[in-house]
Amino acid sequence: MAMAEIGPGQHGGSSRLALSDADREGRDLFVAWCRDIGCSIEIDDMGNIFARRPGRENARAPIVAGSHLDTQPHGGRFDGIYGVLAGLEVLRTLHEKDVTTAAPLEVVVWTNEEGARFAPAMIASGVYAGLFDKEYAWSRSDSDGKTLGDELRRIGYFGDAPCGEHPIGALFEAHIEQGPVLEAEDKTVGIVVGGQGIRWYDLGLKGRDSHAGSTPMRGRRDALLAAAEIVMAVQGLALDYAPDAVGTVGEMQVMPNSRNTIPGEVFLTIDIRNPDRTVLEAMAEDLREIVAKCAGRHGVEFELDEIWDKPPIEFDPDCIAAVEAAARELEYPHRRIVSGAGHDACQVCEVAPTSMIFVPCAGGLSHNEAESAEPEDLEAGANVLLHAMLALANRIQH
Ligand code: GLV
Ligand code: MN
Ligand code: MN
Repeated sequence: MAMAEIGPGQHGGSSRLALSDADREGRDLFVAWCRDIGCSIEIDDMGNIFARRPGRENARAPIVAGSHLDTQPHGGRFDGIYGVLAGLEVLRTLHEKDVTTAAPLEVVVWTNEEGARFAPAMIASGVYAGLFDKEYAWSRSDSDGKTLGDELRRIGYFGDAPCGEHPIGALFEAHIEQGPVLEAEDKTVGIVVGGQGIRWYDLGLKGRDSHAGSTPMRGRRDALLAAAEIVMAVQGLALDYAPDAVGTVGEMQVMPNSRNTIPGEVFLTIDIRNPDRTVLEAMAEDLREIVAKCAGRHGVEFELDEIWDKPPIEFDPDCIAAVEAAARELEYPHRRIVSGAGHDACQVCEVAPTSMIFVPCAGGLSHNEAESAEPEDLEAGANVLLHAMLALANRIQH
């Protein structure tokens, strides 16, 4: 709750966009909390923060927990933050009980998970996993033209360590589910086995500015009208591939945005997702046709740019088993689940054994300031995280 007060939203949530002043303040608070329990801090050149609690065998790769501190513009108090602070709670608990593990333990904060300010999402964990080029990531710009690299420097989190070189023995990410399944089935813990595929698009539509009063309805080249049809068609596309597909237009800019000028230009974003790679590919093909058809109907030119193709992923069986064993031993009602949201864990799993722990959130609501979760459920998730980490950290090495 103290973290949530940094970059407060207007309706009880948080608005802590990546690499904003609020993000810096949140990072500073996290680092201070970690130093309080004697952790050392490493920051890499993507701004990822690793807080380390040594073990007895410090040549071993650390067992790591973590997530992100950035939020959506109208973000909640739990998305991301929970996974970071659950990791910190694990370290605090071991500190207070004076328990030393065999392998070292770490908590990681990944930069720019949300992708709300700098697209695509999960960019720094993506660089870590070798999925994005570092130069590409640094050059991504926000809507004011500020780049990720410059903003990292500005807030003082452009570290010395080369991103991708920090060893990770295993990564566990605790997170609210952000969907309705656990709550509906009265389960306390979700054993996350994988994540669905995601494709992100930038779409530019170019028609012609013209006078709203004197241009007849026929012969207009209204870019917003084409955009409106595309918004409807993206919904239709997701429904065509029901029940698992989703499709969203979340961002739109209308130019010149004047009441009495027919809009000559529109920029919009499209997000489509499916757990099955072949289905997602089919959706992507349909999307191209839909956009061409809607634009063509209004004499509008278009440029559709697929800026991100994130295939569906499966987590590591050994990490999944560690989470499942912890949930079983602690006697929390649990079930296996596939993540609808993207997560840093879905990037890091390409290069290190990884899995996730979900806990329910009220009404399945997320990316909303009203996002909330029960303290007992958050505690359960942190207990599962603790025991999964302990199991791997204390496993005898052969
Ligand atoms: C991350 O929040 C996502 O878009 O799934
Ligand atoms: Mn998140
Ligand atoms: Mn999110």
